[in-house]
Amino acid sequence: MTSIISVQNLRKTYGKIIAVADISFEVAQGEIFGFLGPNGAGKTTTVECLQALRDPDSGKISVIGLDPLRQAQELRRRIGSQLQESALPDRIKVWEALDLFASVTDKISDWHPLLEQWGLAEKRKSSFAALSGGQKQRLFIALSLVNNPEVVFLDEMTTGLDPAARRVAWDLIRAVRDRGTTVVLVTHFMDEAENLCDRVAIVDKGKIVASDSPQGLIASYATGVRVLFSTDKPDLAFLEKVSGVKNVTRRGDRVEVEGSGPLLALVAAALVEHDIVPPDLRVEQPSLEDVFLKVTGRAVVD
Ligand SMILES: Nc1ncnc2c1ncn2[C@@H]1O[C@H](COP(=O)(O)OP(=O)(O)OP(=O)(O)O)[C@@H](O)[C@H]1O
Ligand SMILES: [Mg+2]
Repeated sequence: MTSIISVQNLRKTYGKIIAVADISFEVAQGEIFGFLGPNGAGKTTTVECLQALRDPDSGKISVIGLDPLRQAQELRRRIGSQLQESALPDRIKVWEALDLFASVTDKISDWHPLLEQWGLAEKRKSSFAALSGGQKQRLFIALSLVNNPEVVFLDEMTTGLDPAARRVAWDLIRAVRDRGTTVVLVTHFMDEAENLCDRVAIVDKGKIVASDSPQGLIASYATGVRVLFSTDKPDLAFLEKVSGVKNVTRRGDRVEVEGSGPLLALVAAALVEHDIVPPDLRVEQPSLEDVFLKVTGRAVVD
């Protein structure tokens, strides 16, 4: 793996608060690397240290071969940043913001395709203040890409986007990656991490608690499957005896059977044998959400 980002033993405190306890990782050139973790885990602090926006207490950081502490200016010129908290002057127009950002990069940069791609063409003459939350967010993503960055950092890129816009954003970010840009993103969304990231680091309390491809994480941490259905039949004790079943839980009419092996077929057969034919019988494969629960001991935020 050729690393474009290398971080060793990063630590950052604010007085008594340990925002980042001890974080080390590598990001390969051309991958989408995601940070996933609960509120306050230290994700933003980590990625902002990488962008020369915060000074770490200790640790070694290299981004495109540059040290954010000593080469901040060159680094900022070559990376793209979409920050979790951003603002622009209320009266700046969409096209003016893009033009302004393009004018300060020394690379050849045509921002017009970004307007189309990020669904802002119709809003090009609108002032920043007149944009909806999702449109502002899309403008910030477009701005982070104006300088054709070698690495782009996206902190909660799709927060505030509607479901269709999120999917469009994922496709566009994949295209950005396919053109050779390395993408580092921070997200709370399990589906985003699972669908978009080549590799994911789960961060909790200032440390990386697990890191791998989404499929790798699922294979190592989440082994069981779940069968779900509804029934008003009170007695389901027979399910506990079905091969592979580990746990049966019930909330009202809704039943969840956890286990392993060909669970759907075996549970279905047992139900039919007891004259229960639920119309909504289905199986859920383990997901990143199960991994998250296992490694952090907590349910997902959001
Ligand atoms: N400028 C600051 N001054 C003091 N404490 C801070 C500052 N920035 C962050 N912190 C604290 O550091 C910890 C980590 O914050 P950080 O913003 O990195 O978390 P995060 O993982 O990005 O969370 P979120 O998902 O809510 O965005 C939190 O406890 C936060 O309160
Ligand atoms: Mg954050």
